[in-house]
Amino acid sequence: MNATRFWANFRHLQTIGKRKDGAYRVAWTEEDQMARQTLLDLLHQEGLHGYQDGAGNIWGIWSPVDNAPYLVMGSHLDSVPRGGDFDGVFGVAAALESLLAMRDKAPEPLCLNGALVAFADEEGVGFNSGLFGSRAVCGFLTREIFNNFHDDSGTRYLAETAPRFGITWESVSHLDVIPIAVYLELHVEQGPNLDRSGIPVGVVNVITGRSQGFARFVGQQNHAGTTPMPLREDALLYAANAVVRLNQIVGRAGAVGTVGQLKAMPGSPNVIADSAVVSFDVRSPSDTVRNIAVRDWVNSWHGGTLFAYHEEAAVPLYPAIQDVIARAASKEGLKAMTVPSWAVHDAMIMAKKVPTGLIFIPSVQGISHAAEEFSHPQHCEEGVRVLEDTARSLCASDLRRQEPKSEDEGKGS
Ligand code: GLV
Ligand code: MN
Ligand code: MN
Repeated sequence: MNATRFWANFRHLQTIGKRKDGAYRVAWTEEDQMARQTLLDLLHQEGLHGYQDGAGNIWGIWSPVDNAPYLVMGSHLDSVPRGGDFDGVFGVAAALESLLAMRDKAPEPLCLNGALVAFADEEGVGFNSGLFGSRAVCGFLTREIFNNFHDDSGTRYLAETAPRFGITWESVSHLDVIPIAVYLELHVEQGPNLDRSGIPVGVVNVITGRSQGFARFVGQQNHAGTTPMPLREDALLYAANAVVRLNQIVGRAGAVGTVGQLKAMPGSPNVIADSAVVSFDVRSPSDTVRNIAVRDWVNSWHGGTLFAYHEEAAVPLYPAIQDVIARAASKEGLKAMTVPSWAVHDAMIMAKKVPTGLIFIPSVQGISHAAEEFSHPQHCEEGVRVLEDTARSLCASDLRRQEPKSEDEGKGS
């Protein structure tokens, strides 16, 4: 790698949308558009073929081998509001550097072409449309799904906003995707395992499954002063109890669970709420553990009903690529450990279509989706070196004929 070039490009991309209290490159905003345009400019300056596809993904292409499919490296540029400086953007800068380093000195023999991708709208902040770009590339978006992406109030639709950025269902459904042999993503761990164990490289074996949705609790609207305590049907109290129980149930099950939103109606200090809605997000690398936790939680509710529920199964990653990543770390003199990913990534979508590898570096104190997100410069450079080394090995071999392990074998740790 060329460390000077890596840091210059990484810093350049990081500063877009950066404010005092964190990164604001939320998908489908001007800042996000500016970040994607900046990446395109960098690709062009480096003499690579760069373009935006019909889903808003940015591609950088290096194709020295005739008729060969591509090893694609990438991540995302969009952030959550008040986000960190590493989530996604680090992986894109690392992919750019690895691609340029290979372009500068190609492995011998070379049996794959190389490409970079910055997937659009990984975070799904505004329209609940996370993993948008990778789902489009893999053909997992239908017109119905696209038309149904909307904000939390149900009044703004992605299909009305996206055309301002040149994206329509027409363009999303007519993507001309390069043939992909392998997908590699380098990301900050976003959790504490590597930082705590002092190990610089994580080889991901499984990406967490996730259940998300909303629960509505119903009570009786009434007067805050005149209604005796035993006679109340307080929707907000039902919701609050459910929030506490989620915490207890997932904790016992070994899963994680979050309520990030709570809204009560009519929302006046002197009125007992007749309706309260909570969001929830439950995750585990084991689908069985996740399903049992969700079932037990729903059974514990009083006055609640579930709506807008959707789930994604855990995704095991390709063992042969895990081996190549571990060997690359060892070649670089770095310790590596197998870890599950508790965050979702575009890699979990890509893994359903192509052999996929996910590499982690430590996040200091495991903090992420926050302005305090930080990874040490040395760990960043080590991660880029492992990504580049893995890419070189894969471009010089052909893993495509090897079969992935079964789901159960892929889980663990
Ligand atoms: C995305 O970063 C997620 O894990 O929710
Ligand atoms: Mn994120
Ligand atoms: Mn991310």
